Order: sequence, then C-alpha cells, then structure tokens
Amino acid sequence: MIQPFTTSTRTIMTPGPVEAYPSVLRAMGTPILGQFDPEFLKIMQEVKEMIKIPFQTKNEEAFAIDGTSRSGLEAALIALIEPGDKVLIPSYGRFAYLLAEIAERARAEVILIEKEWDSVFQQEDIIEAIETHQPKIVAMIHGETANGQMQPLDKIGVFCRENNLFFMVDTVATYGGVEIKVDEWQIDIAIAGSQKCVSVPAGLSLVTYNDRVKEVIEARYQLELGLSKEIRNERHISSNYLDLSQLQRYWSHEPINHHTEATSMIYALHEGLRLLLNEGIQESYERHLLNDQAIKAGIEAMGLTFYGDLTTKMPTVTPIMIPKGIDGENVRDMLLNEFGVEIASSFGPLKGKVWRIGNMGYSSRKENVLHVLGALEAALLYQGANINSGKAVQAALEIYLK
Ligand SMILES: Cc1ncc(COP(=O)(O)O)c(C=O)c1O
Repeated sequence: MIQPFTTSTRTIMTPGPVEAYPSVLRAMGTPILGQFDPEFLKIMQEVKEMIKIPFQTKNEEAFAIDGTSRSGLEAALIALIEPGDKVLIPSYGRFAYLLAEIAERARAEVILIEKEWDSVFQQEDIIEAIETHQPKIVAMIHGETANGQMQPLDKIGVFCRENNLFFMVDTVATYGGVEIKVDEWQIDIAIAGSQKCVSVPAGLSLVTYNDRVKEVIEARYQLELGLSKEIRNERHISSNYLDLSQLQRYWSHEPINHHTEATSMIYALHEGLRLLLNEGIQESYERHLLNDQAIKAGIEAMGLTFYGDLTTKMPTVTPIMIPKGIDGENVRDMLLNEFGVEIASSFGPLKGKVWRIGNMGYSSRKENVLHVLGALEAALLYQGANINSGKAVQAALEIYLK
C-alpha cells in the first residue's frame, strides 16, 4: 500500500516560493468549476482587474498565464520578437540571462550588456547603449533575485517611448512587495509571478501590456486549426501555448477555446490578490520595508556583511556574505533540519559566497524575521563562526518596538 505523503511545516525565508496564505490553500480546495462556467468567468474577470492594481496600470489587458513566471517572460518576448529583431538586455544578475536565452531561442539578435552583480546600472548608461545599438525591444529585470539589487527604470521607459521602442520588464521579485508604476515608468509589457509577494503557490505568471503591444499582438493573431481554418497569419507567434494573441481572447468577455484553465490555481490567485489588496498595496510595501529593516539590523548586529550596494537593495531580498571558513550549505542544512527554516543560496559567481534571505508576501512577518535571525545566529555559533552573540534578535526587536 502506498502511503499518503507528509510534509513538515516550514518557515520559508527564501526569495520564492514563499509561504502561501492559509486561505489561499483553502481556496484551492474549492470544488472544480468548468472553465466556461459563468461563475468561473466572473472569478477570471475579477482576477483581471485585481492584477492591474499592484502594477499601477490602466491597461485594458492584464491576465494570468498557466505556467511559472518564465512562461510570462517567454510569452511577452515571443509576442514582440520576429526573427532578426534586435533585443537589448542589460544584465546585472542572473535573470537577465534568462531573458537573453529566451530571446536567442526566438531568433532575435541579442545585445547583452553585462556588469558586475553588486550594483545596478546608471540609467544614462543604458540610454547610451540604446542609442548605440538601436534595438526594437529593451528587456530588463526590475528586482534581481540572485543579488537583491533593484534597477531604477523611469528614465529608460521615457527614452524607449520617445524613440518608439518596446520596453519589457520582469517584475517577478517585486510585484506586490515593492512599488511598481507600469504606466508612469512607461513600461509597455510587465510580467510577475504567483509564488513571491502574492503568496500563492508557483504555477501562474501575471502579465499586463498596453495598446502599443496589443497592436503588435493583434497583427499576429492566428486561431488554432482545430477551431478554424480561416484565421491564418504568416507572422503568427511561434508558440501556441504561450500565444498572447489567443490568451488575450481566452481572458476576454467572449472567451475562445484555448487551453483548459487551471481553475484551482485561479481560485488561489483570486484569494492571494484579494488579501493583498485588502491589506492595501501601500501597507504591503510598508510591511516589507519594516521587515527588511529588521532583517538588516539583525544581520548587521551579528557582525555579518551584506553583498552589494545597500542603497539599491530591494526590500524583498537580502544577500549576505557567508563568513570565511563557514560552509554555507552546512548552515542552510542546519537551519532546515533543526529549525524548520529555509533560506537560499545564490547562483553563478555568488554560488557558495552568498546566502539570500527572502522577505516576501505572507512570509514577510515579524515572527518569521525573529525566527530566522535567532536560528541563523544559533547555527553559526554552533558551526564555530566568529559572530556577536545575543545581538541579532535584540536589534530586530528594537526596530519593531521603537
Ligand atoms: C526575477 C525573476 N525572474 C524570473 C524568475 C523565474 O521564475 P519561475 O521560476 O517562476 O519561472 C525568477 C524566479 O525566481 C525571478 O526571481
């Protein structure tokens, strides 16, 4: 007899996935509705409107794509790219390389501008690169999860609009936890995900785009052969599953038949967004900032140091240098096995050198912050690290109780 699986309760302080709100998990147990059931269509329309609020946009189009955040990144890029198009991708961390990888597979001419991961770009430098390379699309990451850096975007967006380029931004690690101004920063298409500050399991990507992008997508519309042999298009988008021209219609008031919607995930998203909006997005940003201050105070009090420029660190991720002589993975194992706390390692040049503490969504709570600081201090002392003992939680309490 195969036994049902069991799982432990964890304090998840990674940059995603994070703990889901209990009512999100309950919402997933709601009985299944058919994807075209009027009750489900109403839920979808409410989700569409709610998605727009943390993006701060009046765009008509905003919806969810079944698939993790990279499904949205891929859908966005392949909607705009036609073979040979120039895409400029400034990289200050890991996820810009994901954009480059997707754009390259879509047969774009990719211009990757690389720098050290310890800080963001000066916007003027990107504008200069745009002037030099004259791309059709500029694609960037707002918050780089790998190094915790957050790129200012407003001037780049203005320049792209003035020069009639498309500006695409990955807001996966910031959406819901940090202010994003899609309309004001003149972002043409923005993408987020469910498993970070929306506190929903991984499995959905959120996208919004304006009429400039919509015009391109409409011009590439092709309906699936099984539904019509009439609507063919030489410029059709290269994927069927991630075709925004069809997905946009799927999410319209008169939905076409495309995939079978992951209805339970949409229930979860409805509940996650509902809780976020009921808290208030400004209040959510303030909560993330407060918990970020407490994490930073605790880490500093322990005598540990941060990776990268603190002035451009995003509040949702804190990168910490692993002290010399300490095996970062042993500490992470101890945190998980003895304290039920998960923190993250990092990637590429930061692998083995940096830990990352996430501070996102439902996981961004005072009790989680105090627990991770206490556990990290204890694990480090146990492993012989030379840190200040008894200071971290006190420093965080001072932030909370002042
Ligand atoms: C900034 C950023 N972009 C993209 C992704 C890829 O997201 P997913 O794993 O949901 O496909 C992540 C994942 O952590 C991310 O942090």
